Amino acid sequence: MNVFDFSRPSRRDLLLGAGAGLAATAAPWPIAAAQGIRDISLTVDKSSAPLVGDVGPATPVWAYGGSVPGPQIRARQGERLRINVENRLDEPTTVHWHGLRVPNAMDGVPGLTQPAMPPGGSFVYEFDVPDAGTYWYHPHTNTAEQLGRGLSGALIVDEPAPPAVDRDVTWVLDDWRLAEDATIAGGFDDVHDMTHGGRLGNVATVNGQAVADFPMQRGERIRLRLINVANARIMALEFAGHKPTVVALDGQPVAPHAPAKDVVLLGPAMRADIILDASGAPGERFAVNDRAYKGHEYRVLNLIYGDTPLRERPPETPINLAANTMPEPDLSAAVHHSVTFTGGAMGGLASAVLDGQEMDARTLVSHGKAWAVNGVVAGSAPNDPLVSVARGQSVVLTLVNDNAWPHPFHLHGHSFRVLSRDGEPTEHREWLDTVLLRSEERAEVAFVADNPGDWLLHCHILSHVWGGMAGIVRVA
Ligand code: C2O
Ligand code: CU
Repeated sequence: MNVFDFSRPSRRDLLLGAGAGLAATAAPWPIAAAQGIRDISLTVDKSSAPLVGDVGPATPVWAYGGSVPGPQIRARQGERLRINVENRLDEPTTVHWHGLRVPNAMDGVPGLTQPAMPPGGSFVYEFDVPDAGTYWYHPHTNTAEQLGRGLSGALIVDEPAPPAVDRDVTWVLDDWRLAEDATIAGGFDDVHDMTHGGRLGNVATVNGQAVADFPMQRGERIRLRLINVANARIMALEFAGHKPTVVALDGQPVAPHAPAKDVVLLGPAMRADIILDASGAPGERFAVNDRAYKGHEYRVLNLIYGDTPLRERPPETPINLAANTMPEPDLSAAVHHSVTFTGGAMGGLASAVLDGQEMDARTLVSHGKAWAVNGVVAGSAPNDPLVSVARGQSVVLTLVNDNAWPHPFHLHGHSFRVLSRDGEPTEHREWLDTVLLRSEERAEVAFVADNPGDWLLHCHILSHVWGGMAGIVRVA
């Protein structure tokens, strides 16, 4: 199977070659640490951002702290974060800390873990960060639109002793559906997007900039944290002339390895930490291309080598990351459940239950729905849990992607080990919080249900979520 081929491409090609380069590094957020608590203020407001650089006007966006992406939140492993969020939008919002194992009341899901902040309202999120890694934050209210208008940011938790690198850099990767005048196109509830591959954009950005230049020096070793914050776009990044080594997935350490075909595959919401060793010569340029959709490849940015090498070749010091704190699931005592995702265009969904009523596919679409989880469509109120388990129980979930589309499935509140795909044991038994499954693929994932509460399990293609592709895992 072709790793690049997620087919059924967007109806629009990405704009290529827009904008020339600003260095693509995010500014760290100025934060004051006091007695192990980091206090951070975050406003949610309208702003504008120069997404397309000098080839068009600035884009009106919704932004955290006025910038796209939002300010990078950075903490040390084991610290406590206290984040005061102020909502200056004209609509309610919440913040979800994607991938962090926070207490349920801090998870940011309106109607499930907290009431949404009204316009003018605020909320203080306070939680420990037990695990190092690359995470991110985004709204969980009217998510397709709020995220699609610019609300997302990186949240990085540093190890006490990170591996030695010359630079530690974050790339927040996004795509946008812009109109000719560089404003964000509406239609976040588009039914075609919802029943197909989601809202794919026509402009890609790295840290809020369309095609940028990334300066490098021969001999440099870079830790690159890649975060896919797009509404729907799956990315398959190829670093021409370079061999990236993956050291963490979804923030969690993994045995360092070259990804299949040297391509880093990231569904929406997924992250990878890679070690990029600069093996090019002074003055050379290389493209980073996204090859996820056949016939729709585009250049993400250019790697530009400066004239002066840093050293003749990159260092050979170890790059392994220390394990995080997730308990190991006990497979011999685990309970097993399966969760099957159906629906969408060409999916042959006969019927499913919405708000307690069995409906055929056509009736569901008239309600703006097209997807079901174990036969039930997520509606306006939370449904009964898909799965209920006792706190502390080891759980094996078989996730079955029984439809014509790839989907990144995300579980809140926990990270899980991916044990197998289509019955084949995975090579790295990686810990993930979001697992990308191909059409008709199934995966077995395992975790200890040690975080009490009702947790969402949903596809991270955001039009699929409001189209019904969500359910609850209850840990009680
Ligand atoms: Cu990043 Cu429920 O999502
Ligand atoms: Cu989906």
